[in-house]
Amino acid sequence: MFGFFNIQSAIINLTMKKSDTVVIEGGKKLTGTIKVRGAKNAVTKIMVAALLSEQPSTIANVPDIEDVRVVSEMIREVGGEVKETSDGVIVITPAELHQPDTNALHKIAGTSRIPILFAGPLLHRLCEAHLPTLGGCEIGPRPVDFHLQSLKSMGAEVEESEKALVIKANKLGGAKIELSYPSVGATEQVLLSSVLAKGVTELRNAAVEPEIIDLICVLQKMGAIIEVGTNRIITIQGVDTLHGFDHKVLTDRIEVASWACVAAVTDGKIFVHGAQQEPMMTFLNTFRRVGGEFAVRGGGIEFWRGRPLTSITLETDVHPGFMTDWQQPFVVLLTQAEGSSTIHETVYEDRFSFTNALNKMGAKIQLYQDCLGGTHCRFENRNHLHSAIINGPTSLHGAEIQVPDLRAGFSYVVAALVAKGKTTIHGIKTIERGYEKFEEKLRAIGTVIISE
Ligand code: EPU
Repeated sequence: MFGFFNIQSAIINLTMKKSDTVVIEGGKKLTGTIKVRGAKNAVTKIMVAALLSEQPSTIANVPDIEDVRVVSEMIREVGGEVKETSDGVIVITPAELHQPDTNALHKIAGTSRIPILFAGPLLHRLCEAHLPTLGGCEIGPRPVDFHLQSLKSMGAEVEESEKALVIKANKLGGAKIELSYPSVGATEQVLLSSVLAKGVTELRNAAVEPEIIDLICVLQKMGAIIEVGTNRIITIQGVDTLHGFDHKVLTDRIEVASWACVAAVTDGKIFVHGAQQEPMMTFLNTFRRVGGEFAVRGGGIEFWRGRPLTSITLETDVHPGFMTDWQQPFVVLLTQAEGSSTIHETVYEDRFSFTNALNKMGAKIQLYQDCLGGTHCRFENRNHLHSAIINGPTSLHGAEIQVPDLRAGFSYVVAALVAKGKTTIHGIKTIERGYEKFEEKLRAIGTVIISE
């Protein structure tokens, strides 16, 4: 009964063309059903976890996105095999591993943050990990000091050069580690490195995002012993070996929120099949506060605009706070809300520069270095434009814009959908890193995409 899309209304005006540019004609109410699959930020780490065992592992609900292709390439580069056995199901067989060619890995990795997470599995399997230095979206400096410090605490030696990292340890040992900020990546690093370490590791101030809990579920299926305590304390009892697993990845809550914003901003109605309520609770509350409405039913969540949109004061934060990756499409939503909204970005110091292009489209967004909204964050008095005031409602108009990073890129799509006239967005391959078949999904809910 359920095909990939269940189209209720579609005005499709396009010819298929694969280019790095999309031209969208805005102003349509978008209505229909969209299916969202597994979370980019969970599946990629779960793929790395598979390398901790020599046995095959099966991962289901895998989205067809660029980042999954990149991590598959990386796994092949270290000797693992990745095969798609049916739609959205992959089997990873990591029977024999070897060091990657770091130049090759560097090229493949491009903008990815994942290579650093290969450290734990490669150390356990080969006692050495040769890794490239990291890329990642241009949203701030994004250092890896917490990762390297944690590995050193567990007994690893780290040699850093401009292009590569060489990490060595005959056997990692359990350690007491406290993160100065609950970093998602560093928490994953500790989990992937400590499950096979000798002894107990206690991680304090850990991140507890749903994607991390999903990774912990996978590690537990593999034979690991991990306690998630109160107050962000995770305790890992090292074991001698791990085995393969079979896991269905949790739904991508960033993509779900993006489609919710599309529904509200265009005054349409979108049923997101696969959307899960619990990991979305904070978003759902915030969405409702500004006038969005939703119904949880039949394997997903339906989103629409329940009343005229109104302004809000908001802060991004680690889980269970409002995700930094929900911020960008939400900013576009707030350009359509009555009043002045304030957003204080507390996770990344430089995640508002994308708003310049929105202002070019007619939005009224001012950026501030101050911690607006109540909380003092670690970016206070450090000259970072990390607060925004969005005055609305503003009538957006089409423009020619370039995607700077993944989430900003999708927010430009949201802006284009509500703008009068045509918006030309260049650099959509960056959006394809994390949004599966987004052009197809847009067309299926009635978007007019004009071929160039
Ligand atoms: N940080 C450090 N040192 C470190 C690690 C992090 O200072 O060693 C800082 C970062 O600079 C940042 C903050 O800590 O200011 C949080 O970074 P975190 O480590 O939590 O982020 P990440 O693991 O690099 C993941 C997601 C991001 C998401 C963040 C926060 C992946 C591949 N990426 O990044 O997702 O924004 O957690 O939830 O999981 C995206 O999907 O577009 C994206 C950027």
